[in-house]
Amino acid sequence: MKIDYSKTGYEISAEMKAKALAANALLHSGEGKGNDFLGWVNLPSSIDDAQLDAIVAAAAKLREKCDLVICIGIGGSYLGAKAVLEAMSNPFQLLKKEQENPTVVFAGQNISEDYTYELMEAAKEHSIGAIVISKSGTTTEPAIAFRLIKAELEARYGKAEAAERIVAVTDKARGALKTLATDEGYPTFVIPDDVGGRFSVLTPVGLLPLAVAGVDVRALVKGAQKMEAQTAEGVAFEENPSAIYAAVRNLLYADGKKIEILGSYEPKLQYINEWWKQLYGESEGKEGKGIFPASVTLTADLHSMGQYIQEGERTLFETIISVAAPKHKVVIEADEQNLDGLNFMAGKRISEVNRMAELGVQLAHVDGGVPNIRIEIPTIDAETIGGLLYFFEKACGISGYILGVNPFDQPGVEAYKKNMFALLDKPGYEEESKKIKARL
Ligand code: PA5
Repeated sequence: MKIDYSKTGYEISAEMKAKALAANALLHSGEGKGNDFLGWVNLPSSIDDAQLDAIVAAAAKLREKCDLVICIGIGGSYLGAKAVLEAMSNPFQLLKKEQENPTVVFAGQNISEDYTYELMEAAKEHSIGAIVISKSGTTTEPAIAFRLIKAELEARYGKAEAAERIVAVTDKARGALKTLATDEGYPTFVIPDDVGGRFSVLTPVGLLPLAVAGVDVRALVKGAQKMEAQTAEGVAFEENPSAIYAAVRNLLYADGKKIEILGSYEPKLQYINEWWKQLYGESEGKEGKGIFPASVTLTADLHSMGQYIQEGERTLFETIISVAAPKHKVVIEADEQNLDGLNFMAGKRISEVNRMAELGVQLAHVDGGVPNIRIEIPTIDAETIGGLLYFFEKACGISGYILGVNPFDQPGVEAYKKNMFALLDKPGYEEESKKIKARL
């Protein structure tokens, strides 16, 4: 991975370099804020073959029985698997007559009745299984989805066989899901206590659904392990891409660039953007502080958000994940009539045009006052994506500490839950219920 911040127009001061290295050291010493949630720091190197074998074996069982696996979870118990799956998948796979892998779809990441109905209807035509993921084991959205999917599995296959088609990923001891999994005898994987949801993609939370979908999870972990070494304590600032990224974004933020737009010219990375938004938004957006994480997929969004980025309020900076080489080759051919005037591109690969779009947009946005950070990855494969995930996690921890917040809590997400339960007349919420209904 290469990180280039020359188009931000900023030099990183010795002071900021020292801050970034100190923040990295804090993550390793465990003496900073939120230090009971630092299990992700050395997670990749702690994953051994036995753990991966167990995940791959559980995935193989589901793969054998099911052609559709419904992965239930929300937030950090959803976005990592979704992001990597999208990055690694052929978006047109479902158009093929033969499916090599079970299809993995997601539920419990919303409370939409239509989404749920349409999923349950579509599932009727398939041999199904489920992976239910919740660290707390008490989150409402996945609990609702799991109630329905569990009932469908039991009605269709009977309780014993349903228990063979359900895997739970949850806390080792606490929560309703843990109790249910123990009572029903579901195979269970544990989310470590010291790994928060949005840092959990390299635990069974991400690895199990990805293994079911046929993603090479060993390569994913290998990429993360390499990045763990590359960003370890003691690595010089210039050699540590996470420290560099964290430092630059904090310099930009201090100078009034309050919004960071993560973009890519590869649509497969769209959900990496979504995963990144959760990682940074939940980690940094607190105490009245934090860069607002936004995202675009290019060149599509140049035809929607492009205008604002070029000429709107100058509080933005951009970070582009640039993919050096595509996997496939498509050449633009000459056309005798040339009615579209595109013959000047004849003989060029589409990726060359995409690259020129990227470079042209970069300079246009820089000229328009939008500093640009460029993160170049060689290609989209499991190892590279594993590295990218850990790179962003490490940078997030460093960045949050530079900002002075606890990057590992999320007190703000409780407010909506309290209101929702009061509006739904949950027992114990009687007083809140009266108050909130009077405000409607
Ligand atoms: O990052 C987080 O901690 C959250 O986004 C959680 O992942 C999300 O709220 C889901 O929680 P749980 O896994 O407990 O159901």
